[in-house]
Amino acid sequence: MCGIVGYIGHRDAFPIVIKGLQRLEYRGYDSAGIALFDGNTINLSKTKGKVEDLKKKSKEISMAGTLGIGHTRWATHGVPNDVNSHPHYSNSGDLVIIHNGIIENYESIKQALQNRGYTFKSDTDTEVLINLIEEVQKTEGVKLGKAVQIALNQVVGAYAIAVFDKKKPDEIVVAKLGSPLAIGVGEDEFFIASDASPFIEFTNNAVYLEDEEMAIVRLGKEIKLRKIKNDAVAYPNILELQMNLEEIEKGGYDHFMLKEIYEQPRAIMDTYRGRLLADQGIIRMAGIDQNIEKFVNANRIIIVACGTSWHAGLVAEYIFEDLARIPVEVEYASEFRYRNPVITDKDVLIAISQSGETADTLAAIKLAKEKGAFVFGVCNVVGSSIARESDAGAYTHAGPEIGVASTKAFTTQITVLTLIALKLAKEKGEFSGSKFHEYLTELETIPAKVEKALKSNGLVETVAEVYKDSTNCLYLGRGYNFPVALEGALKLKEISYIHAEGYPAAEMKHGPIALIDEQMPVFVIATKKGHYEKVVSNIQEIKSRKGKIIAIVTEGDVQVKELADHVIEIPETLESLTPLLTTIPLQLLSYHIAVMRNCNVDQPRNLAKSVTVE
Ligand code: F6R
Repeated sequence: MCGIVGYIGHRDAFPIVIKGLQRLEYRGYDSAGIALFDGNTINLSKTKGKVEDLKKKSKEISMAGTLGIGHTRWATHGVPNDVNSHPHYSNSGDLVIIHNGIIENYESIKQALQNRGYTFKSDTDTEVLINLIEEVQKTEGVKLGKAVQIALNQVVGAYAIAVFDKKKPDEIVVAKLGSPLAIGVGEDEFFIASDASPFIEFTNNAVYLEDEEMAIVRLGKEIKLRKIKNDAVAYPNILELQMNLEEIEKGGYDHFMLKEIYEQPRAIMDTYRGRLLADQGIIRMAGIDQNIEKFVNANRIIIVACGTSWHAGLVAEYIFEDLARIPVEVEYASEFRYRNPVITDKDVLIAISQSGETADTLAAIKLAKEKGAFVFGVCNVVGSSIARESDAGAYTHAGPEIGVASTKAFTTQITVLTLIALKLAKEKGEFSGSKFHEYLTELETIPAKVEKALKSNGLVETVAEVYKDSTNCLYLGRGYNFPVALEGALKLKEISYIHAEGYPAAEMKHGPIALIDEQMPVFVIATKKGHYEKVVSNIQEIKSRKGKIIAIVTEGDVQVKELADHVIEIPETLESLTPLLTTIPLQLLSYHIAVMRNCNVDQPRNLAKSVTVE
């Protein structure tokens, strides 16, 4: 995790690096630091806390320089404090580094360097790396770029680094393995960042480094890439970015999370636009069309993901099995990669990831590819590692998701997966033409129905007021809405720090029912389509134990209204599409509770948006 930013050019680097770090804070936010070079002096400032704290602290010293690097941290080695914050100096004070990733063999390297007289101020693996680079420079008599390359060939782990040398005022050396790194190419200036958001207002030309690539970013020169392992020259592919500034700003909302919840009608529509062609009765998706045989003849589909994306995978399991009649297994990527799974070349593996950078999901893909499976990526971030590593894929078109708690990524993932399931169902002959058409036209109504579901915001806020001081909550759902119950509970716990658990409603009687008393709020998804009568019985069981019932129901419901303490209505739709609607009030609920509890909604404690460590 962690975010890195760099600049070299003709402008004052400080505001560019600080603003860039603020945009990357979603990647980690327990400490931050910046180093600027004005040709003579390195000005370095770092602190525990947020980029805003760094900005304040930096006012006390001169922060001049047209070369700068900065870092916002999610601690791995060493507690978050001023000393462990990046950037780190080498022992001579000439080299400075920022690093996103983990150097796994840092202890043995540190020992060897200590034996040669090196001393260390911090507990970090990064300070070890910069001193290794310095040692290589000294012993091999090579320039910075070569020293970085030789040093990186000695380390095991993951990294996106930017390094500069006081003796080389016109260059920054960058390298990548496992963690993302983009270079923004401007006129006589370069930007370096974990994603393109820090430089989007300056340039929309970017080069994304591949794994095991490095570059010397030198003023007045074109970027030259090299393979770290064998020194082969690689040619940079300069991409034109589509992102705009508006998409990464709050646009009048108090928090990114709320903005992103409200963006869902548009995000869902953008995700099916150009793919779902209801009037022609077709779904067009290049990644599926070109590989249709692989899907249709697959023994099974394995879905790997983490967190919210895993919940989208669970919804997909219901859709694929129900509609396309293809067996599906859904796995936590972190478990899958380490349990010696049986994978064959008849399997299709779908990896779901908003960021496209989640280390466990990436590793699961690599494992499946080694065993011959066909890998299909469903990612939001264009050009991300998982998107590049997959054999084929389909992007969700949610736009940048900045709030750490995933919202529009979830509903757009479900949208893409629904399109795939429908397409396969049609291809396999599981659907009549009229049933297929019914699904397509219904899917087209979803953005308007999400819009309507969002109108419950005021009511949800009053419900939030009642339950904001709870210490535990249960979320129940069945069938397609069981994963939504898991997702509702995850949203609440991650941003408001209330303990919450999601369960299949019928499982309640096998244990969790023991928890129910008059203090326990139970959020139940009880839509008309989807085992309604069974869920009503589960609600009766909660009521007889005096639990508080907050039900998500279909418009016009009467039966549950009589039993529940609060009901929140959503529009009616096909059962398989209900997760796209039931999830909306649950997102709003966790948002309001977190705000009422004065929690940091967009940057909850201990979390980061992009989990690039395992
Ligand atoms: C929850 C959340 C996380 C992510 C998980 C996977 O709100 O954001 O649980 O869903 O870390 O991330 P991606 O989808 O980027 O692979």
